[in-house]
Amino acid sequence: MKIFLDTANLEVIKKYNDMGLLDGITTNPSLLSKEGGDPQKTMEEISRIIKGDVSLEVVAENYEGMMEQGRRLRKYGDNVVVKVPMTAEGLKACKALTAEGIPVNVTLIFSPNQAILAAKAGAKYASPFIGRLDDVGKDGMNLIREIKQIYLNYDFKTQILVASIRHPMHVVDAAKIGADVVTLPPEVLEKMLKHQLTDIGLKNFLADWEKLKSEDPNISI
Ligand code: G3P
Repeated sequence: MKIFLDTANLEVIKKYNDMGLLDGITTNPSLLSKEGGDPQKTMEEISRIIKGDVSLEVVAENYEGMMEQGRRLRKYGDNVVVKVPMTAEGLKACKALTAEGIPVNVTLIFSPNQAILAAKAGAKYASPFIGRLDDVGKDGMNLIREIKQIYLNYDFKTQILVASIRHPMHVVDAAKIGADVVTLPPEVLEKMLKHQLTDIGLKNFLADWEKLKSEDPNISI
């Protein structure tokens, strides 16, 4: 399973990229707005730092606007994937951009039917938002199960990119189902990294080492 980070924060991206954890990045207008500054510079910089796929989203609602913005976004890097909304115009742009060799991520997917249509339109990624479904009392993870089954049935090549992840158990469940990608808010990635038994174990190891050293200050590893 690939791990993408769902952020436009350059410092955070560098931090986890230096650990070798990131296969890609997803951004959206809300994440860019949260960081402030010049969004063009931010998107360009993200595409430069990250070797894997970087999803950059169009803000036009019609086909022509999406095509124009999609082609412009792609100029930020060969790793740019253009993100379009799950609308009729978005699917038309998905088909046309894909035909031009520009990969597309269809975002804001909330049903198996929408995921089928994204795959038919040739999307590289389909992004179901599971947390937002959970928020309205639906089972977001069940949507991932359904899409996985459907894509397997017909050997669709579109990758399931699980978005709107809220906690580490979402990641474990998505991995068990066999989702292709999870895109994580940095807080979730940080929580995945930590375990209290790791902290306790490390503290004890270091305390025991200090004990040994107090008996002979010249020892070393
Ligand atoms: O990539 C966008 C998606 O992950 C949104 O997440 O937390 O705003 O529902 P959220």
